[in-house]
Amino acid sequence: MILDRQSRINTTELRTRLGLMLSQMDQPFADMQDDAVDLVTGFLDQLQVYEGAMYEISTKLEILDSEFQVQFSHDPIHHMERRLKSIESILGKLERKELPITVQSMRDNLFDVAGVRVICNYRDDVYSVANYLSGQSDIQVLRVKDYIQHPKQNGYRSLHVIYAVPVFLSSGAHYTPVEVQFRTIAMDYWASLEHALRYKTDLPDDKHAEHSQTLLDCARSLQNVETQMQTIHRDINGAPRAGEP
Ligand code: GTP
Ligand code: MG
Repeated sequence: MILDRQSRINTTELRTRLGLMLSQMDQPFADMQDDAVDLVTGFLDQLQVYEGAMYEISTKLEILDSEFQVQFSHDPIHHMERRLKSIESILGKLERKELPITVQSMRDNLFDVAGVRVICNYRDDVYSVANYLSGQSDIQVLRVKDYIQHPKQNGYRSLHVIYAVPVFLSSGAHYTPVEVQFRTIAMDYWASLEHALRYKTDLPDDKHAEHSQTLLDCARSLQNVETQMQTIHRDINGAPRAGEP
């Protein structure tokens, strides 16, 4: 099952945001209209390439998942989520990083415009699915951050891999980055609540700190539960398969 976390590209939102930015500049908006349209078209073209890369990665993962079902009667992937970063957040991130607001700048600097989250049943599944995907000869691994081996200080765990995926357009192959976050159900359960707490700004500071501490304890407990359940699962299903650490 794949959950699309976002609707398709929305040109109205893009035009509104760019129109607003242009209207805040010194030159009259009318003088800039051609440039604005070029920029809109450029972002749209590029977003469609990101969308293609995101679909390619999800299809590869679905194929791996069904192969595991057929060969081992086991579903490593519980479900997937995927999303394209909204134009609003792309522009916001470029502004925050003080980077030029251009398509080239997005391509050179943002690696999470296309994102796929792979929620697996067990930790072994996370590594086997990630290793099999990373080993495919038509895609490249650009960056790996293993927050499972090295959890973040707040307790966050997940395996992040940025892949470069060839998207074949009329002009040839365009290698496009996709950020894939591999995690277990328990890691996802934890990350959702931590994310909600992070954006809950109207809590008193002491309450916030107390909840963060509790969440850190929860992360450790979940990790223990996961290890125990993984052991049972290995015993029931035999030793780990090739490709697993
Ligand atoms: P930015 O994308 O600029 O933040 O930097 P980065 O790509 O180097 O960050 P990183 O790979 O560490 O994390 C990228 C994504 O992972 C975030 O957008 C979140 O979806 C997720 N993530 C990272 N850290 C946390 C965390 O502490 N809590 C939660 N809930 N999610 C996190
Ligand atoms: Mg990111």
